[in-house]
Amino acid sequence: MRIAVVGATGEVGRMMTRVLQERGVKPGGIDFYASARSAGATVEFHGEVHRVKELTRGAMEEGYDYLLFSAGGAVSREFAPTAAASGSVVIDNSSAFRMDPAVPLVVPEINGDLLRGYGSGVVANPNCSTIQMVLSLYRVHERFGLDTIVVSTYQAVSGAGRSGMDELGDQMEGRVAPRKFIKQIHLNVVPQIGALLDSGFTDEEMKMVDETRKILRDPGISIFPTAIRVPVMYGHSEAIYVRTRRPFDMDSLAVAIQDSEDVVLSSGMVTPLEVAGGDDVHVCRLRSFDDSSFLMWNVADNIRTGAATNAVRILQKHVELNRAG
Ligand SMILES: NC(=O)c1ccc[n+]([C@@H]2O[C@H](COP(=O)([O-])OP(=O)(O)OC[C@H]3O[C@@H](n4cnc5c(N)ncnc54)[C@H](OP(=O)(O)O)[C@@H]3O)[C@@H](O)[C@H]2O)c1
Repeated sequence: MRIAVVGATGEVGRMMTRVLQERGVKPGGIDFYASARSAGATVEFHGEVHRVKELTRGAMEEGYDYLLFSAGGAVSREFAPTAAASGSVVIDNSSAFRMDPAVPLVVPEINGDLLRGYGSGVVANPNCSTIQMVLSLYRVHERFGLDTIVVSTYQAVSGAGRSGMDELGDQMEGRVAPRKFIKQIHLNVVPQIGALLDSGFTDEEMKMVDETRKILRDPGISIFPTAIRVPVMYGHSEAIYVRTRRPFDMDSLAVAIQDSEDVVLSSGMVTPLEVAGGDDVHVCRLRSFDDSSFLMWNVADNIRTGAATNAVRILQKHVELNRAG
């Protein structure tokens, strides 16, 4: 098996490289790509040092089995179709292809079945906030039906990549002009992520609406998101209100959440600092006034659960369903 990591010097790319090693993925060959700026930089993988190469169209025709893309939507749009047409599976972290009806949008624990028989082409990795929300709610949907979700996200600056983290760091040292974020992020909270649309929602918020419906295969779920940037380095949090289609009791609701793969329900309090570096979604503060609506808090490492780990889980699930044995 041959793998390429595209965007290998970025936050998500470096984490994908790490997660591949942690999860014991040992390809016969691996290459690392970034822009010309980082060509020649080094990456260590399973004890071997590799040179980062400049991304070229020719590289997309080298016959990799899997390419893990995390270099932004424009790069994915320019290069991923060539790799897909050459017979590779492209696992793409950008939003470029997520809503393409021909492209599976996959959280393996929920809809990994879509990978069976998917010989080549693009597989889209969902938005970070969407992944942690659907992981904590998919069993609730199976058992009680999700009618309405009202969600406020509290998203870490690493969700905006290296430059987002640098901006918070710079502002902590007194250089305060906003560059990446529309307002100062240090000592502040910014209730807009992404571009504001005519509807008043942002494109980041609409990802949670459209992607949740696609992953859960239910266009009838009403979703009202507010995406908020907070001065946290790693770990997104979400305050979620849910109304269900069928009544529940609290014990059965807790069991549904506990039965969700890679989700941990806690009776105590969980914050982003505690989950950074982990792969589970943590749910706490589960509470309700009645038998058809509830509130909860959920937290996950956005770079791992929300991007790198999900991408590597897609790769491993694809291998299991199509290549094992
Ligand atoms: N951060 C998150 O929580 C998160 C979550 C889910 C999805 N994503 C998505 O993942 C992607 C990467 O995010 P990130 O946070 O890792 O960003 P990042 O830290 O800014 O890294 C960007 C990476 O892309 C490379 N790159 C940029 N322009 C390129 C070009 N023209 N050709 C080849 N490589 C190029 C960069 O290489 P150089 O070193 O050469 O600049 C770097 O390796 C984005 O699509 C983002 O939306 C991010």
